[in-house]
Amino acid sequence: MSENEIELGLSTRAIHAGSPPPAPGAPVVPPLVMSSTFYGGQADESAALRYTRYGNNPNQEQVAAKMAALEGTEASLLLSSGMAAIALTVLSAAEVGDHVVTSRYLYGATHQLFRQELPRRGIEVTFIEPGNEAEWKAALRERTRVLYLEVPTNPGLRMFDPRVPAALADEHGLLFAVDTTFASPVNVRMTELGAHAVIHSATKYLGGHTDLIGGVISGSREVVGGVRDLMKLYGPAPDPHMAWLLDRGLRTVVVRMARHNQTAMALATWFDERPEVEATIYPGLEGHPDHALARELLDGYGGMLSVVLKGGGEAADAFAETVSLALIAPSLGGVETLISQPRYTSHRHQTLEEREAIGVPDGFLRISVGLEDIDDLMADFDGALRASQR
Ligand SMILES: Cc1ncc(COP(=O)(O)O)c(C=O)c1O
Repeated sequence: MSENEIELGLSTRAIHAGSPPPAPGAPVVPPLVMSSTFYGGQADESAALRYTRYGNNPNQEQVAAKMAALEGTEASLLLSSGMAAIALTVLSAAEVGDHVVTSRYLYGATHQLFRQELPRRGIEVTFIEPGNEAEWKAALRERTRVLYLEVPTNPGLRMFDPRVPAALADEHGLLFAVDTTFASPVNVRMTELGAHAVIHSATKYLGGHTDLIGGVISGSREVVGGVRDLMKLYGPAPDPHMAWLLDRGLRTVVVRMARHNQTAMALATWFDERPEVEATIYPGLEGHPDHALARELLDGYGGMLSVVLKGGGEAADAFAETVSLALIAPSLGGVETLISQPRYTSHRHQTLEEREAIGVPDGFLRISVGLEDIDDLMADFDGALRASQR
């Protein structure tokens, strides 16, 4: 990011960073460059080889520059999914015989990657309680290479202090990676809190319109370069059309997040007072176990909200069958309100005991609060709450 861009506000960066400089007759919106390859390749210009799998198609580069400007990092890289960003970030720093320490609170596929995939490939993983500094320290081994955290967590919306693993990682020369998909760079810039690699599923708030799959990793040139090297070999490069859509989505990410934050806070307060609800989980509520930390570290509490209904799984099923405006679908971060039960979606591979241990019992509904009018959402949820207890 250039010195000038650092001084600009976040909305201005989201709109202008990464775009080619204005020129008479040039399009205001960067054009979609649907080309896999580019002229070049003679001996004297080999350093400038452009190929879309390398991540240096103009659309890919524009989004990467915009993301680096938003995160305040030297570099960013766009990949074809959030999982590609997570997997390649870890693999860029850990090889056979190495060890990773991570939180117990992870998105389901990330959990599976760490629990099954990495050990199958000779990388050992220790899961810890990330709010406990002693557990981070005790888990460290000679061959530990990566510390990994996801905050706010999916779907329990827990907040853990990244500064604890960040300090340990610096002390021991480890890579500290944070998935902060739920916050977006609008609600937190994780490198300011010590992260070396900041990961987002761009599929969610960054794209914001439920029409693309993508991932981003941001950090130093060295860290991002290591992930790019693997992207060239394993191949999960984003296609230019996705990059173009993401660039379009990012232009409004700041105003969208402000509205997500606002509506989710109001809805959380509303759910919290309903007799049908056993627990409302939202970091903005004073009763949330991590409220103080969330208030200190986040610029907004986010658009994700969870409720546990009285009556368990049956009540949650009835709620889901009754809503009509909110849509039943996995994923999150789009303009439309989506509801899912993690026991059927992201956490279906975990047992009830495992889910209960991370605060996801039956009856748990995850709500991705969209940008609809709040009165309409309340009317929809009011009917569904009543139906849930019949
Ligand atoms: C917190 C978090 N990280 C990563 C991912 C994976 O992202 P993608 O589906 O883009 O691979 C998800 C998807 O739901 C997520 O919620």
